[in-house]
Amino acid sequence: MRSSENRKLFSQIATQYDFLNHLLSLNIDRSWRKKLVESAGVKSEDSVIDVCTGTADIALRFAQEDSVGNIIGIDQSDEMLDIARRKINSNGLGRKITLIKGNALDLPFEDSSFDIVSIGFGLRNIGYHREAISEMVRVLKNRGRFLVLEFSPPPKNLFGIFYGLFLKNILTPIGGIVSGSFEAYRYLSTSIAEFPKPDEILRFMKEEKLRNVSYDRLTFGIACIYRGEK
Ligand SMILES: C[S@@+](CC[C@H](N)C(=O)[O-])C[C@H]1O[C@@H](n2cnc3c(N)ncnc32)[C@H](O)[C@@H]1O
Repeated sequence: MRSSENRKLFSQIATQYDFLNHLLSLNIDRSWRKKLVESAGVKSEDSVIDVCTGTADIALRFAQEDSVGNIIGIDQSDEMLDIARRKINSNGLGRKITLIKGNALDLPFEDSSFDIVSIGFGLRNIGYHREAISEMVRVLKNRGRFLVLEFSPPPKNLFGIFYGLFLKNILTPIGGIVSGSFEAYRYLSTSIAEFPKPDEILRFMKEEKLRNVSYDRLTFGIACIYRGEK
């Protein structure tokens, strides 16, 4: 999907995005984001950029770490960022988190700017997975940590068959009805099915010279947290 189509799609569903995330995942998504932040091992005054921040749930989670330094959240959708801004202000965290509109494939920062780069459910949407990883690693400082949270394609077993049926017959219609965009939730299912397998994502990370790369499977393998160091 092209970047402009992707922007339109997220702008259409922005107001229902959080509600549907928590409903359709039975709130499991909250524990995944918490785990991503724990995996980052935040140290005193660490600077963070959360790429494809959307409604800023990951940035807000980082802000709960007492020792964290500045947090940047970047996204290409004004509508998602508007909701993020409201949430950040209502939590009184405007001092800690700065939101920026921008493209993940062309981050407006110098090389080696951040101690931590995170991206949650964004890599799949950017589409150009290798290029996106390369750009995010560029802005990471040496010894910095890179973290990705992303859905994995359904496994080829009985569970995978049920999960595939859930995506098609439950998630897509409910997401479509509540958000008013069937296209967005059809796209969610197909983009999950087409996303590279975890070992391939790990290979891209190694090719970008990240060290100590690993991934943890979450909730029967429907998502993974990937981690690497520069
Ligand atoms: C599924 S949402 C994830 C939001 C958030 N990280 C979360 O954990 O819920 C994907 C986000 O990626 C953004 N996005 C997609 N492609 C992008 C790109 N090339 N540059 C910046 N943002 C992008 C969309 O606007 C959307 O807000």
